[in-house]
Amino acid sequence: MREDRNCQWRVARRPDGNVVAADFQYTEEDIPFPGDGEFLLKTYYINLAPVMRMYMGGEAIAGEVPLAIGDVIHGRAVAEIIESRHPDYQVGDFVHGQCGWQTYKVSKGTKQEKFRKLPDLDISYSAALGALGMTGFSAYFGFVDCGRPQAGDIVVVSGAAGGVGSQVIQIARLKGCHVIGIAGGPGKCELIRSLGCDETIDYKTGNIAEKLAAACPDGIDLYFDNVGGETLTAVLENLRMHSRIVLCGSISEYLLDKPFGLSNYTRLRRTNTTMQGFFVYNHVDDFDRAEHDMSKWLQSGQLRPVEHIFDGFAALPDALASLYTGTNHGIALVRIRRGPNDNEE
Ligand SMILES: NC(=O)c1ccc[n+]([C@@H]2O[C@H](COP(=O)([O-])OP(=O)(O)OC[C@H]3O[C@@H](n4cnc5c(N)ncnc54)[C@H](OP(=O)(O)O)[C@@H]3O)[C@@H](O)[C@H]2O)c1
Repeated sequence: MREDRNCQWRVARRPDGNVVAADFQYTEEDIPFPGDGEFLLKTYYINLAPVMRMYMGGEAIAGEVPLAIGDVIHGRAVAEIIESRHPDYQVGDFVHGQCGWQTYKVSKGTKQEKFRKLPDLDISYSAALGALGMTGFSAYFGFVDCGRPQAGDIVVVSGAAGGVGSQVIQIARLKGCHVIGIAGGPGKCELIRSLGCDETIDYKTGNIAEKLAAACPDGIDLYFDNVGGETLTAVLENLRMHSRIVLCGSISEYLLDKPFGLSNYTRLRRTNTTMQGFFVYNHVDDFDRAEHDMSKWLQSGQLRPVEHIFDGFAALPDALASLYTGTNHGIALVRIRRGPNDNEE
């Protein structure tokens, strides 16, 4: 007999600006039964990402199926297989992949869901979903493959106290770079300093371009951009010759009605700078390499999985809103159930 229920968060209406409570609908259903070729997943943690607000807006984005009103919101989770009628997935296996904002899911293990089995490592489920999941892989492919860092490079990272940013600054340090992190407020600047930033910039006070000029008098070799907008504009004023810019995200622009419109892009030409976008799922054939390297750094203590854990399924809507107000520190995750290697806090 099954005692639990499947709890779900669905799209109630399209968000206008940041998400608010009325944009979400809470539902409960019986836990579904897997048919032939299917398995049943029980979720432990769900990973939050700014893109989820765009999913709720119905956008065909990040390779996901566009959501209609009433659909369960997309989200990657770490989950246990508790029933299986699928030859490749056994009861007791743990995976991370597209489970949606719900506490149980029946799956066929499709390519679209991008399930990966958890590596056989002595780490928490939250770290397996965050640092060894899409947040960590975004940091890895964006910084290592696209940024091509060299020891001694002057590296600037925006959104440095967020999920991707907190991993990038640590990878930059272990690659021997001089790292300047940009984040909002003194608390976050203190956090990123503790993660290895040589210098920090609080973008919420003063002029960002002037602060960058003071922190990097010889200019910037590599900029990892999580925020776009005014910060990207300020970086363009402080580039070295032959520098690189990696466009990971532009969260400062996501709530705008009209595109920001970069006015000083000709700085790229004058400095022979390469600006390159990337999308983590374009690297799917190479995920094993990212997992191998990131695990090695985690286990050696060179990489700390900075996590902001919101407790309980009910916390999901507020947790998503917090990414846009900046209250999260590190990788934002919602804990549905505790795992064996969880911290006791
Ligand atoms: N290309 C890809 O494949 C890929 C993959 C994953 C994520 N991304 C993108 O990478 C970026 C980081 O993602 P994440 O999951 O790690 O999120 P995150 O950085 O953990 O969360 C958002 C953070 O952005 C900052 N922020 C919010 N509004 C801002 C604004 N108006 N101006 C400047 N900063 C603002 C806040 O930090 P402060 O308090 O410091 O403002 C907030 O904590 C996002 O833009 C995301 O869309 C891209």
